[in-house]
Amino acid sequence: MPISVSPCLWHELKALQTFAFTLLIDFWLLDPNMADVEALKREAGIEACKFVRTGMKVGLGTGSTVKHTVIELGRMIREEGLEIVGVPTSLATEKLATEMGIPLVELSDVDGLDIVIDGADEFDPNFQLIKGGGAALLREKIVAQESSAMVVVADDRKRVETLGAFPLPIEVTPFSHEATIRALNRLLDCRVNIRMAGEGPVITDNGNMIADAHTGPSINNPISKESEILQIAGVVQVGLFNNMCDAIVLAGANGVETIINPKGRL
Ligand code: 5RP
Repeated sequence: MPISVSPCLWHELKALQTFAFTLLIDFWLLDPNMADVEALKREAGIEACKFVRTGMKVGLGTGSTVKHTVIELGRMIREEGLEIVGVPTSLATEKLATEMGIPLVELSDVDGLDIVIDGADEFDPNFQLIKGGGAALLREKIVAQESSAMVVVADDRKRVETLGAFPLPIEVTPFSHEATIRALNRLLDCRVNIRMAGEGPVITDNGNMIADAHTGPSINNPISKESEILQIAGVVQVGLFNNMCDAIVLAGANGVETIINPKGRL
């Protein structure tokens, strides 16, 4: 039976089609690798769900890789009867997890978490991490600290010999942030910028700002660097996650591998 479409609706459909087509072209032309990277993120994000069992309390990280974990956990709840509760590490993850039907609890209402799955901006051979590219480092670190195990999901662009090519995110108080930046600058001897979103600074879920320290790949001792940075009044938290990561689910051109930290808890 022929379907009649009003001219108005037809134009709207056509506009939608053109928009979708343009997006697709941008996606491929701007960076032909983008689609591959997205596929790798999805593979890693989904594979990490193998660490999750019914009855677990699960920390839900933030970012474009762990987003796939959250989506998959939602699917496992709906289709496979998985029973878990989640603690999100950001308002964005809280929104996504709610949409996916994952029951959420407050961290304060539970006595620790079984596992947290989260992304990372860099990891080194000792499983030390830089996190905070998504400005969620404070909640991510609190949740990681409360978890019995931490699994990182990443694609192989995140593997480095020495941390620091990715600018180190540091959450700072808005109060007197210029002075905090100067103190960080003196300590790290590198450019430190307040992260901007358009005209204004990025404001975290906790009402703070993010300073990005351009150290370069020079953080040879992330443990001492973390404690030195935390000495500065005005610093709320730093995106160095030391001795927290137990396994990395890493997606690369040859597939997904799970690297277990020999000194970890898994
Ligand atoms: C957010 C984070 C993210 O986990 C990190 O930036 C990695 O994100 P993505 O998976 O999008 O690369 O630390 O604060």
